[in-house]
Amino acid sequence: MKLRTATLSVALAAVLLGCTSQTQNDYSEQVEALLQQMTLEEKIGQLNQLDAGGGALQYSEDVKAGRTGSLLNCPPSEVNNIQRIAVEESRLHIPLLLARDVIHGYKTVFPIPLGQACSWDTAVVKEGARIASEEATAAGIRYTFAPMIDVTRDPRWGRVAESLGEDALLTSVLGAAMIRGFQGDDLSQANRMAACAKHFAAYGLTEAGRDYNVVYVSEQKLRDYVLPPFEAAAKAGVATFMAGFNELNGVPVSGNTHLLRDILRNEWQYNGMVISDYFSIEQMAIEGYCQTKGQSAEIAINAGVDMDMMSKVYIAHLDSLVKAGAVKEATIDDAVRNVLRLKYRLGLFDNPYTDFSRRDSVTYAASHLQAAKQAAIESAVLVKNDHQTLPLSLDKCRSIAVIGPMADAPYEQMGTWCFDGDKTHSVTPLTAIRQLVGDKVNVLYAPGLKYSRDNSQAEFGAAVSAARKADVVLLFVGEEAILSGEGKCRADLNLPGAQQALVEAVKATGKPLVCIFMAGRPLTIGKELEASDAAFIAFHGGTMAGPALADLLFGLAEPQGKLPITFPRMTGQIPIYYNDYITGRPGKGYTMLNDIPVEAPQTSLGFCTYWLETGLTPLLPFGYGKTYTQFEYGKIRLTSDTIDFNRPLEAVCTLKNTGTRDGVEIVQLYVQDLVGSLVRPVKELKGFQRIALKAGESTEVRFEIGAHDLSFWNADCKHICEPGDFKVWIAPNSVEGEPATFYLTH
Ligand code: GLC
Repeated sequence: MKLRTATLSVALAAVLLGCTSQTQNDYSEQVEALLQQMTLEEKIGQLNQLDAGGGALQYSEDVKAGRTGSLLNCPPSEVNNIQRIAVEESRLHIPLLLARDVIHGYKTVFPIPLGQACSWDTAVVKEGARIASEEATAAGIRYTFAPMIDVTRDPRWGRVAESLGEDALLTSVLGAAMIRGFQGDDLSQANRMAACAKHFAAYGLTEAGRDYNVVYVSEQKLRDYVLPPFEAAAKAGVATFMAGFNELNGVPVSGNTHLLRDILRNEWQYNGMVISDYFSIEQMAIEGYCQTKGQSAEIAINAGVDMDMMSKVYIAHLDSLVKAGAVKEATIDDAVRNVLRLKYRLGLFDNPYTDFSRRDSVTYAASHLQAAKQAAIESAVLVKNDHQTLPLSLDKCRSIAVIGPMADAPYEQMGTWCFDGDKTHSVTPLTAIRQLVGDKVNVLYAPGLKYSRDNSQAEFGAAVSAARKADVVLLFVGEEAILSGEGKCRADLNLPGAQQALVEAVKATGKPLVCIFMAGRPLTIGKELEASDAAFIAFHGGTMAGPALADLLFGLAEPQGKLPITFPRMTGQIPIYYNDYITGRPGKGYTMLNDIPVEAPQTSLGFCTYWLETGLTPLLPFGYGKTYTQFEYGKIRLTSDTIDFNRPLEAVCTLKNTGTRDGVEIVQLYVQDLVGSLVRPVKELKGFQRIALKAGESTEVRFEIGAHDLSFWNADCKHICEPGDFKVWIAPNSVEGEPATFYLTH
């Protein structure tokens, strides 16, 4: 039974159909009528967002005077008080836009976005965003700075945790689903909030994986790889965009006319609001793009940034810039229109106040916790299961050792960008395993380390002793939440602290070892995987990470996740990603470091592309994930071996569940353009489907391939597809499967 189909064209069509209503009503009459009444100062005030994290009432006079149009981080207790000042005491009664980072849940915390991306499930991702909206709006928030749809292939970058991985299509489809979850079909509903496509654009390619660094990328690569998720977000009706901190080819994106006007406004005809990132406007003076904060304000407003998040340079300088003729009032009017239109779309003029009566019933609602558990189940990726170590059997296990600093870490499992989740509601793996096994199995708990960075081996003895007494060891390792997220970049992706030594010590007992990696990024865990008999990658799984992992480990739930990002063998391989290039010296027949004879002559090694220590391949490839059952892929069949631009091709293969358990397989469609006017990647994801099959069941999996799927941005920056030979795979991941070939005639 096919669960959900997602190819770029299909997925976007579904999203577009769902969101057309949102983009139709632009409230132009109301906006123009209000704009005509506004003074220049009041207009500029609407473009000024302030941080109320230290309390909102400090801004009472600013709100009353119309010097701010939006607050972020307003305490729920002050939401209606400050809103009342705006609505009842200001001259024009314009309501405030109240915002917060609700990235992967508000109170009920879902897996970090990188974890959710392992689900490849638009329904799960959309539901998580919808639930976040239900809970956050009940606390007065009507605008979230999510989804972050910066594709990235650099696990050193702390914000990889917040991303949806390395692929443009997967990020496009899941990002659009999040937007629909946050915004729903009618943004004016009190339980819906405006979403924000961020960070526009290319932040995920920050050089060296170091946050806030420069980005140099060609226009073609920008359009092929970076922009598709943002275009999908715009087409999905995302209410706002956020410009970022980085420069793009030397021009800061918060002052980048090419991005904000040429592409966003003119090419995509986007009519939502653009906000800066926090201080990102004034940062242009710091990074030497201009000399003064006044100049940064001029650059940003003229480039198309509507609202200034916390630089306070708009409120400080726009008035004088208009009087000096450096900024046209018409430019400010356009920015104010975007802000006012958003407030009308949110229904704030009719319904500015928060009804807090919903809050208790929606916060941590049982259905929300269940959804978070399902998301955590689908976000976990089984990457090894030798000798069918898993699932564990309650009948066969008499004692289990639960070890590791992440086994009972309720705060850490919520992950980064979690401002409001309460760790007292987190259910840890230890708690969930104890609840699940009851008195049937003896659970021996010994953390071994107090936290992920702990270097003390003082408690190793207890951990080893527990392992010796147990039939199987469940070892929970990874990263504390603070080690990923904004500004948290790592130059060494090994497990922090003495965790590697802990794995070795437990392994030495010879007991069956199951490692569960709970982190905010891919880690270089080759040795730990080798030591494991079975292993899960479980990026910080949120409030319900424990029950999800317990159900997976004991077979009450089926592993189905697949990796949305490549795992390097060593940090030195980065960037390493699936859709890379064959090069003129393809990596084959290479000699590894320790196989090189002493005094080997310079010309004795293969001159091809690879690393001496690691070879060419990653530790774990994009799209990889195992299940407890087995799926067999039949030979791919094409409806024709030639297609033209106007006649799509259908690719079909038989998928069979040849195992003894029901399961879900994420089937992936990849295409390769063998020759192009620019060299083309060895493979590109062009579609995926989640297919549920009972044991022994089989089905035909069908994908349609059209000209859009074969197109790329050429040297003239035209989006074209070129006649020629192509390969196509229907496969379980980015490295397996036998391709078929077809020829595109014209
Ligand atoms: C941060 C982040 C951005 C976030 C904003 C508000 O610095 O870059 O993603 O939404 O500021 O907190």
